[in-house]
Amino acid sequence: MPVKFHKNILCIGAGYVGGPTMAMIAHQCPDYRVTVVDVDARRIAAWNSDNLPIYEPGLDAIVRSTRGRNLFFSTEVAQAIKDNEIIFVSVNTPTKTFGAGAGMAADLQYWEKTARQILTHSESSKIVIEKSTLPVKTALAMECILNGAEKNGIHFDVLSNPEFLAEGTAIKDMTEPDRVLIGSRETESGLKARHELVEIYARWIPREKIITSNIWSCELSKLVSNAFLAQRISSVNAISALCEKTEADVAEVSRAVGMDSRIGAKFLNASVGFGGSCFKKDILNLVYLCKHYHLDEVADYWESVVRINEYQQERFILNMLNAMFNTLAGKKICILGFAFKADTGDTRESPAIFIARRLMEEKADLVVSDPKALANAREDLKGASGSISFIEDPYEAARGSHAIALLTEWSTYRGLDFEKIYRDMAKPAFIFDGRNILDHQKCFEIGFDVYPTGKPPLTHF
Ligand code: UDX
Ligand code: ADP
Repeated sequence: MPVKFHKNILCIGAGYVGGPTMAMIAHQCPDYRVTVVDVDARRIAAWNSDNLPIYEPGLDAIVRSTRGRNLFFSTEVAQAIKDNEIIFVSVNTPTKTFGAGAGMAADLQYWEKTARQILTHSESSKIVIEKSTLPVKTALAMECILNGAEKNGIHFDVLSNPEFLAEGTAIKDMTEPDRVLIGSRETESGLKARHELVEIYARWIPREKIITSNIWSCELSKLVSNAFLAQRISSVNAISALCEKTEADVAEVSRAVGMDSRIGAKFLNASVGFGGSCFKKDILNLVYLCKHYHLDEVADYWESVVRINEYQQERFILNMLNAMFNTLAGKKICILGFAFKADTGDTRESPAIFIARRLMEEKADLVVSDPKALANAREDLKGASGSISFIEDPYEAARGSHAIALLTEWSTYRGLDFEKIYRDMAKPAFIFDGRNILDHQKCFEIGFDVYPTGKPPLTHF
């Protein structure tokens, strides 16, 4: 006898957002049947295996306890659309690389294709929930596609429910979110659909943290949240450049500034720059939207957040060149960390991609090391010309190198035996700490010439 479930939920798109989010819903709501579909058969096979397609702390355990019970991964998109009344859409929405808005607007081809698939295969009314990051007013476009066709009595309610999980802490972020945002039309059926979605989250999230609004406020809030977070990083990174000139210490400045309760301490760590699939994409969406409405000053303001991020990465390279006697040709550089942040294997928009390519332009020999991101790093650097190797073990990776460029804040890097690393490196041995996680004084005493970010360098000459 098939088990009768209280609700049937579908998610289209089994990526970094869809997979973990649905695993969490299945975990929190054992009486719901949750299906995740994707066109990518390899990805689905990986979700059904012991080797999940993404690395996320805590995810394995949740998937293992729910998969086959009330969580199912499949490639049967059409059938799944027929069988489910609540459909989350979390397909990829990268930045457009062609045509109008290239390099700025969102590429909505996967998203629109999904909307049309939902329309084609639906045999009953559905609630469709935008989970992917999308430009403002895309829910309206989704509604036009779905309801414009007047399919014999079938009605679609389109909701926006943006994702706020950060990779590396996704499970915690979803278990105890700061807030959940749900946007809907404020019509009778829109409000009913909104209520359905609120009831899902209310199973484990206090109701006061579930915020409802109209769809456009909801969509815009997501873009603005990410733009604000990225802006803080660009602000502190801009100050890091000034600190390097004035011998101030950016960590001391961040601490002092962040203790103002109006400002707060989070997201003030100077770094080699922010990466990830969201920040740049969302800001560029915001910029495109502002330009569309002829708000050029507003567009310029937000675009500068991205420009500072690019400047910070270029500055990292120039600092390396400058310190290493203006030539990197033929020198072996060890990149420690390729993921865009710690605790993920994701490398989308990782500053490491830009830096590796720039180092290769300077004709350096690269060794890339990362505990989880080497497969993605290989893909990212495919076609880059020059000498490059990929070695997971940091000691082996650093052996014989002239410099270490630390680009991801993996906690294991803090605990490395730098005396041992120093012994095996070419001299003078340099460390460029793009995340400020090492004990700089100790590394200096070992013999390294140390270049932190936004702090005075510690050098022997
Ligand atoms: C972000 C948002 O935090 C999340 O709410 C949204 O849903 C998706 O986008 P994510 O990109 O996964 O999440 O990671 P996040 O922790 O925000 O880090 C983004 C980048 O900023 C990383 O490259 C990180 O290393 C960098 N960063 C973060 C800094 O350089 N300094 C900081 O102080 C904080
Ligand atoms: P995110 O980080 O937003 O989750 P990903 O790229 O990791 O983005 O995941 C998006 C997933 O959506 C991919 O696995 C992709 O194959 C899938 N996808 C894209 N279009 C469709 C579609 N029409 N039907 C089903 N899955 C799709």
